Amino acid sequence: MSKEKIKTVFFCKECGYESPKWMGQCPACKAWNSFKEGEEVTASRNTSKRMRPENPVIIPVSKVEIKKEDKIKTNIGELDRVLGGGIVWGSLTLIGGDPGIGKSTLLLQVCKSIGDAGKNVLYVSGEESAAQIKLRADRIGEFKENVQLFCETCLDDVRKVIEEAKPDVVVIDSIQTMFLEDVASAPGSVSQVREATGVLMKLAKVLGVSIFIVGHVTKDGNVAGPKMLEHMVDTVLYFEGDRHASYRILRGVKNRFGSTNEIGVFEMQNQGLVEVTNPSEFMLSGRPANSSGSVVSCSMEGTRPLFIEIQALVTITNFGIPRRQSDGIDCNRVNLLMAVLEKRIGVPLANCDAYINVAGGIKVSEPAVDLGLVVAILSSFHNKVVSEDTAVFGEVGLSGEVRSVAMAQARIAEAAKLGFKKCILPASGKKTIQDDCGMELIFIDNIKDLKI
Ligand code: TYD
Ligand code: MG
Repeated sequence: MSKEKIKTVFFCKECGYESPKWMGQCPACKAWNSFKEGEEVTASRNTSKRMRPENPVIIPVSKVEIKKEDKIKTNIGELDRVLGGGIVWGSLTLIGGDPGIGKSTLLLQVCKSIGDAGKNVLYVSGEESAAQIKLRADRIGEFKENVQLFCETCLDDVRKVIEEAKPDVVVIDSIQTMFLEDVASAPGSVSQVREATGVLMKLAKVLGVSIFIVGHVTKDGNVAGPKMLEHMVDTVLYFEGDRHASYRILRGVKNRFGSTNEIGVFEMQNQGLVEVTNPSEFMLSGRPANSSGSVVSCSMEGTRPLFIEIQALVTITNFGIPRRQSDGIDCNRVNLLMAVLEKRIGVPLANCDAYINVAGGIKVSEPAVDLGLVVAILSSFHNKVVSEDTAVFGEVGLSGEVRSVAMAQARIAEAAKLGFKKCILPASGKKTIQDDCGMELIFIDNIKDLKI
């Protein structure tokens, strides 16, 4: 046996940066006091070497053969779209999200669906017992024999099982519970998680097994500790949503095989997660009638326009510095647009508190919602209602100009489908619009032209 060389290294528990000595601040992610001591066992690397193909060869790209059909459809439409059409053979996908958001439920449903299509699936759980998983499985439906369960936390055993059984798809729930015997540190530590992911990565590539790994998220929104997990895997998906609301959003953050800005919307019901195919209707349900400060805007999420309700509440500051609070939209963007309103059209917002909320708890970042936000703020400030059948979108620049946004036609078509009658949109994108879909289109060049 080769002599094991153990050296002590320090890892940043936020981003996984490695250093031979302790540091107060991480040079990579600038986090303070984030260094933890860990042991790097160099010999452990040798264990993964065994899985390398016998004779390394180079081949022309044009000669690469893809043996099986290129993607495994999960038949869960919302997930397939986020994945870029289905699961790629031999890919490693990380699903992150808060505890209890539904990661295990979704993956169990994926197992059932793929199992029903005749593929062999192995669900490895390090968190729950077989009986607990069975209870959940019973809520989801009947499982076939080809979906198998393995409750284990030792990744060396898991690897052996995968190498022998050669399933088509493997789910590891969760990566933080897995440990390799050769790595001295505790499960969930940076070195364990990193080495374990490395082993799974090699398994996926060498055997052509598609692997899903579940990763827990720390309270500041990173996949626990190792952000570097994101660099290692092919696809990163995040599950987000309001824990109090029943819907969940699956967002692609990285995808080597497809677009990253697609989202999938699900609703948590009694029999597991159910796809929501018309998310805009879902987001707009329960909208208050005749209420000032409430405006519908549109954000493109991948190829789909998503209509959301932006709510603004602007009140006079009673004491001290004005308070600006925002949920669902970047607060800096809110401050910036309020400054634009103040400077360009003279609305005295400097001594106003402003509370902004995107109803439903979804987060939007597309600048196309700027105009909607501006109209919502004005509506609340002047206490004037924007009629319910109006949708507003456009990017607002620092001079108060309204700039064109991509895919205006698709947004109008979707607005018409949802029953809107009026649309306020940028004049500069006028020529890209061929069809008004029976809507009254109000083109504006500058926020000065807003009639509120
Ligand atoms: P779970 O998948 O265990 O979350 P994670 O793996 O991300 O921690 O989520 C379970 C939650 O979903 C739990 O609060 C119960 C709820 N749930 C339902 O409402 N309906 C269902 O059919 C299932 C299986 C779970
Ligand atoms: Mg779970």
